[in-house]
Amino acid sequence: MRIVITGGAGFIGSHLVDHYIVQGVDVVVIDNLITGREENISKHQDNRRFTFMNEDVCNVETIDGTIDAILHFACPASPFDYLKYPIETLQVMSVGTHRMLDIARSKNAKFFLASTSEVYGDPDVHPQQEEYFGNVNVLSPRAVYDEGKRFAETVTVAYHRKYDTNIGIIRIFNTYGERMRPADGRVIPTFISEALANRPLPIFGDGSQTRSFCYIEDMVQGIAKAVEIDYPLPVNLGNPAEHTVLQVADLIRRLCKSTSDLHYMPLPDSDPKKRKPDITRAQNVLKWQPSISLEQGLVKVITWFKERRKDD
Ligand SMILES: NC(=O)c1ccc[n+]([C@@H]2O[C@H](COP(=O)([O-])OP(=O)(O)OC[C@H]3O[C@@H](n4cnc5c(N)ncnc54)[C@H](O)[C@@H]3O)[C@@H](O)[C@H]2O)c1
Repeated sequence: MRIVITGGAGFIGSHLVDHYIVQGVDVVVIDNLITGREENISKHQDNRRFTFMNEDVCNVETIDGTIDAILHFACPASPFDYLKYPIETLQVMSVGTHRMLDIARSKNAKFFLASTSEVYGDPDVHPQQEEYFGNVNVLSPRAVYDEGKRFAETVTVAYHRKYDTNIGIIRIFNTYGERMRPADGRVIPTFISEALANRPLPIFGDGSQTRSFCYIEDMVQGIAKAVEIDYPLPVNLGNPAEHTVLQVADLIRRLCKSTSDLHYMPLPDSDPKKRKPDITRAQNVLKWQPSISLEQGLVKVITWFKERRKDD
């Protein structure tokens, strides 16, 4: 088996690379390192089953050799990153998705899209099921990501309808784990790096907004199951255990034995107030559900962050 992972030098993509290399699969990574890091994949560089193409997917017209599946994960994913790279985000989701679909079609390969819970926007149904159409303000700054992903889903489904391309779409909810960048702006790496330095943790709004966090090992298992099956409808992947941002801050302060205060700041535009996946479809179709609690996952990630701080 030979697969392409776009965005394979990023957080989730590089964990998928590790997973497939261990499974004996040949892996081609396409990544322009806009938000990813070469060190995430450097341990594979001498493996003859591993190929790294340092390119923007928007410019890739062909990939040599046979391909069984393209896993399209390339896209800035943290709000900090996609607000810094708004046009690049829209391009990778539009031009980039289109290019990868064309290559998948020409190679008779499966096309698998990493979509997001952000397609539901600031949801007015809770928890979010796949049938929910979402509540996205197309003019908000965040829309570059939300609408980019919505377009990517639509063009993927259009290829399935018109050309019978074998597709899969997952809607990933907040995922955390080793290899997240401390300064990528997402809540868990931010809280851990500030807590370890005993600096104040930034809380947007009053901290009562909720999020559901899935540990990377659970997510990789869910993605691998979704890649295996033929199922063209979107599937939510995430951990339904819901926590307020304040609860997460308290847990991280406790696990880091930190003396950090909380620093309250205004809520950003269109920040979702609630986020929790309904994973009934994933349970039924993939026979998957997460098994690692937030506390168990955080203990591992905090250990990794501590090791990194020693190295820096
Ligand atoms: N982490 C999460 O909680 C989460 C939640 C929902 C969806 N997702 C999706 O999962 C995917 C991976 O997210 P992540 O958290 O690993 O983010 P990440 O920023 O760590 O990884 C994205 C990777 O894509 C690469 N990339 C971006 N634009 C590219 C382009 N034009 N050409 C080639 N490479 C490009 C980046 O360099 C990076 O390595 C994204 O598509 C994201 O939207 C992630």
